[in-house]
Amino acid sequence: MTDAHAASRGVGVVVVAAGSGARLGAGVPKAFVALAGRPLLGHALDTVAVVPGVVSVAVVVPADLLDTTGPLWSGVSLPSGAVVVAGGAERTASVAAGLAALDPSCDVVLVHDAARCLTPVDVFERVVAAVRSGAAGVVPGVPVVDTVKVVDAAGVVTSTPPRGSLRAVQTPQGFRSEVLLDAHASGVAATDDAALVEALGHDVLVVEGDARAHKVTTADDLAHAERLLAVPTPGGAS
Ligand code: CTP
Ligand code: MG
Repeated sequence: MTDAHAASRGVGVVVVAAGSGARLGAGVPKAFVALAGRPLLGHALDTVAVVPGVVSVAVVVPADLLDTTGPLWSGVSLPSGAVVVAGGAERTASVAAGLAALDPSCDVVLVHDAARCLTPVDVFERVVAAVRSGAAGVVPGVPVVDTVKVVDAAGVVTSTPPRGSLRAVQTPQGFRSEVLLDAHASGVAATDDAALVEALGHDVLVVEGDARAHKVTTADDLAHAERLLAVPTPGGAS
């Protein structure tokens, strides 16, 4: 089978929603916190459901929320064929649980934070297209507005990277599936999947991200997301 044929097998998406949301402190896991009356996870899955080429979806949730008929699931529509699995204590373990539940025939895998619940579908499309064009790993990123300092344990600045070379990265992060499986087999934990793939020596490409893919982390972020939802989508139905 040629690569061109292999490239048509389909996209798998792992949506990680198993975090506790300690920094938001809402009393329920962050992905189940309401945004405009529906859980963040519901908003995220609405977009995943319309990404072209997706054949398999794994939704990773806290172990005590596996029952999708439970009250916190109200307002969440699972994409057709999606499976729901329990996450782990660290994000990396949750991603691994989702990967294990995806259809193994997928040749492209995306990993997406439920907390980036307003990520537009065109970000997913850009990431998939770049993987299909040959990149081992692809992350959406946006320019950094602050000057960033590298500091040592005592807080002393050790370097100031040129801002023009920095990107704040988002999700979905996309990979050739065998590359991400290898990266997770290494057993190392990281805050993003691309770091695991970089550690194996693969090139990871940054494509254009979107301000709406910002991660809901704090109460201010949730309020910001509420404001974004109140603004009509350019070109969309009003
Ligand atoms: N996540 C996960 N499993 C974990 C930790 C995080 O599935 N053990 C998911 C979260 O649900 C979220 C994404 O990874 O969608 C990004 O993590 P983060 O923003 O850190 O969310 P939380 O860990 O829930 O928040 P906090 O760190 O404030 O507790
Ligand atoms: Mg966390």
